[in-house]
Amino acid sequence: MALLEAKHLSHAFDYPLFNDLSFTLDGGQSMAIVGVSGCGKSTLLHICSTLLAPKGGEVYFEQIPLYGAKSRNALHVRREQFGIIFQSHYLFKGFTAKENIQLSALLAQTPLDEALCERLGIARVLHQKIGELSGGQQQRVSIARVLSKKPRVIFADEPTGNLDQGTAKEVMDVLFEYIKTHDAALMLVTHDLALAKQCDRVFGLEDLMLVER
Ligand SMILES: Nc1ncnc2c1ncn2[C@@H]1O[C@H](COP(=O)(O)OP(=O)(O)OP(=O)(O)O)[C@@H](O)[C@H]1O
Ligand SMILES: [Mg+2]
Repeated sequence: MALLEAKHLSHAFDYPLFNDLSFTLDGGQSMAIVGVSGCGKSTLLHICSTLLAPKGGEVYFEQIPLYGAKSRNALHVRREQFGIIFQSHYLFKGFTAKENIQLSALLAQTPLDEALCERLGIARVLHQKIGELSGGQQQRVSIARVLSKKPRVIFADEPTGNLDQGTAKEVMDVLFEYIKTHDAALMLVTHDLALAKQCDRVFGLEDLMLVER
């Protein structure tokens, strides 16, 4: 059974972004979406992760529709099953990095994963307030927070955008390992073609469709 399924999605703002777009994503699988700036990659990620209702079509998590008549499912799925890693990090500013991670671990009723923080290179900054962290450190705290929740599907929009090459590789290794060990799925948006190719499947968003490369 597909973990995530998009069926006949269409969306437009000032101009059409995609039309009748469908795909499935299974447990343990990763997919990358590439395409020119403004083609609608982030919009597609927002739609698939419960944040934006599409103009047409439907998204299913384990066959549960996220929109339409049963849209009250969306909040529950987002909270319990989805991990969302976007450039705006959604960290709580007044709290320390550790408190931010614990908060989601609390929601998932699992303890803070110290080894994960060590691997992500944030173990030594955990006591600092979010406002005192660098952009790349904040990014890694938000990734630690998302993974602490043990999501089934991870949505990542340029998750390594603020990071140097070495740190970026470590972060991606953590994400790829996570989906393999937890039978989770990863939907990744990136401009980095080399990174995209590390995913099981690579799609270009072009001519209003997803074209597999
Ligand atoms: N909430 C919104 N209201 C109106 N237009 C929007 C909204 N969100 C996105 N758009 C427009 O939709 C188009 C696609 O935006 P989107 O952010 O999905 O592109 P993208 O492929 O992620 O680009 P980038 O690679 O630069 O991040 C853009 O023209 C953008 O201005
Ligand atoms: Mg974008």
